[in-house]
Amino acid sequence: MDLKEKIRSIENFPEEGVIFRDITTLLKEGDALREAIDQIQANLDGVDFDLILGPESRGFIFGMPLAYNLKKGFVPVRKKGKLPAEVISKEYALEYGTAVIEVHKDAIQPGQKVVIVDDLLATGGTAKAIIEMIESVGVEVVGLAFLIELDFLHGRDVLEGYNISSVLHY
Ligand code: PRP
Ligand code: ADE
Repeated sequence: MDLKEKIRSIENFPEEGVIFRDITTLLKEGDALREAIDQIQANLDGVDFDLILGPESRGFIFGMPLAYNLKKGFVPVRKKGKLPAEVISKEYALEYGTAVIEVHKDAIQPGQKVVIVDDLLATGGTAKAIIEMIESVGVEVVGLAFLIELDFLHGRDVLEGYNISSVLHY
């Protein structure tokens, strides 16, 4: 199946000059959704890890089914002010704007190996912020798995040295 055909492209959203890759058209088709999850998962074959971290909100969509399939725990990385217990946080830049992400301090332990799963790698700002946030408490990032990578934004360069996989490239 050509998964790219299932992704809708919207020009000038959320701002002028950005082509938004809209995964909602893929998500609503059962076969395409399953294929996307299976392919992200296949790219993690042979990676030994303890937990999946998924950034809000589209990282939840793909991180959770992988955690379920692979019998691993899932830790949500949320935008500022959403998590109720003690957090560690990090500010980062997006393709458009800036944001702060947070994770529960007691959700990750020093020495654990984690994989970050998200729908899309753009500038790499989100992934880099998560890496810096969790490495500061002794957690090791052994893989990053995306459905989509925007090659022209060179997020991969920001994440040099890490094991990165993407199913689709634009
Ligand atoms: C999008 C996307 C990634 C991030 C990629 O999330 O889901 O998490 O941007 O961009 P980057 O590589 O430049 O950091 P967004 O922050 O728009 O939030 P959403 O998932 O809630 O829509
Ligand atoms: N997140 C960051 N850049 C994006 C884009 N161009 N399309 C969809 N999600 C994004």
